[in-house]
Amino acid sequence: MLKIFTKKIYYKNKFKTKIVPLVWRSCSLIALIGILFGMDIGVISGVLPFITKEFKLSNTMAGWIVGSMMGGAAIGTFAICIVSKQLGRKKSLLISSILFFIGALIAVFANCTRILILARIILGLAVGSASFTAPLYLAEITPVRIRGMTISLYQFMVTIGILIAFISNFIFSYFQSWRCMFGILIFPSIILFFGILIIPDSPRWLAYKNKKNEARKILKKLRYSKVEVNNEIKEIFNSIKNKNKKLGWNLFKKNINFRRSVILGIILQIIQQFSGMNVMMYFSPKIFELSGFIGTKNQLLSTIIVGLVNVFSTIIAIISVDKLGRKPILYIGFTIMAIGMAILSLVLYIGTLKIIQYLSIISLLIFVAGFAMSAGPIIWIICAEIQPLYGRDFGISCSTIANWLANMLLGTFFLTILNKLGGPITFILLALANISFIIFTRFVIPETKGISLEKIEKNLMNGKSLRHLGK
Ligand code: BGC
Repeated sequence: MLKIFTKKIYYKNKFKTKIVPLVWRSCSLIALIGILFGMDIGVISGVLPFITKEFKLSNTMAGWIVGSMMGGAAIGTFAICIVSKQLGRKKSLLISSILFFIGALIAVFANCTRILILARIILGLAVGSASFTAPLYLAEITPVRIRGMTISLYQFMVTIGILIAFISNFIFSYFQSWRCMFGILIFPSIILFFGILIIPDSPRWLAYKNKKNEARKILKKLRYSKVEVNNEIKEIFNSIKNKNKKLGWNLFKKNINFRRSVILGIILQIIQQFSGMNVMMYFSPKIFELSGFIGTKNQLLSTIIVGLVNVFSTIIAIISVDKLGRKPILYIGFTIMAIGMAILSLVLYIGTLKIIQYLSIISLLIFVAGFAMSAGPIIWIICAEIQPLYGRDFGISCSTIANWLANMLLGTFFLTILNKLGGPITFILLALANISFIIFTRFVIPETKGISLEKIEKNLMNGKSLRHLGK
């Protein structure tokens, strides 16, 4: 009777329980990874004009320098998936922070293109491994009530990192110093390394490694009440007990339900990239040039505005994701993105009058706002939430690799497509892509707001349709 009663209180208060300081502290540190991730994305747009001049880069070589990071990121994600399962989330994050440090240091002192590519690959390994482990760790240590919010916070830090890089690019461009642009990556990587030493490991990973006592001990530190600890630990152990112990790739081969969640994660990340966001991150100066803005200084300044809108719109997602739910925000976001792209296409079709230049900036900002308040954070959240415990590492690494490969494809070929098809057709195609993502959201994506990871897993393994995983 008492058992039923406490359980009732737990569920009744599930959305009211307090969050302990250790959870906030751990989340803040993971946020730093987001900043580093963002800085790595943002730094290249500022560095490129200078290294092109200094090393007399051909277009192909410049492409390699941009793309090598995304290639490294795909490899880093794959490698850390294996390491993370064996060593745990904490040690994996330590490895990422060391890679960040080494990559940035080599970039600063690079004296030829080969060394620069090597540095970019190492930075990519760091970004890939961190972008895989950080959301996974957050999903595993935070109480269900704030799970969506913390992963959005992580995305928020990515946008801050991008903005910091855009601002530092702008400042250091006055000194013509691309080495300093890379150099500022070194400081957060050092803080990250020492910070990770003092956060706890994931109780879910410890339980999976059969370290039950340790898992319970850490969960006690991460939760406010005993009832919460007891219920959560029971859920975790049940989910482990009920498994047929097949992991990762083996589980993928044998279990159709797991295949469904892995494929959904992959498609979600491809959708996120093909919404066109990174086109704006890497090439917005080029797009401004197309609509008649002349001068690097003007273009770099406009890029900072793009970075600012990216940051502030992410706040909308943070506030609303655990209240409104994932799907309503995705509907709104994709609609706004489609509108932004359609206006940009129209504007480029009409011509380069002064008013058109401003309209092109506004349409770009509308697009960026739409992405940042929706697909930016929410795709990462859903990808971390839909995978079952025994296949979580594998599932998230597949979707993160898909993110980087799609990112690399778009980054490498966008300019060619733009030259071939022209601005109006290219951007109307992106608008149509975003409309098709609304339909995908309606019929395939599950609503996971306020549902425990174990419940989502149970639904998945019982063969419920993907759309109904959160019911
Ligand atoms: C995406 C990145 C993108 C960033 C922009 C992330 O969610 O995965 O590819 O550059 O958002 O804010």
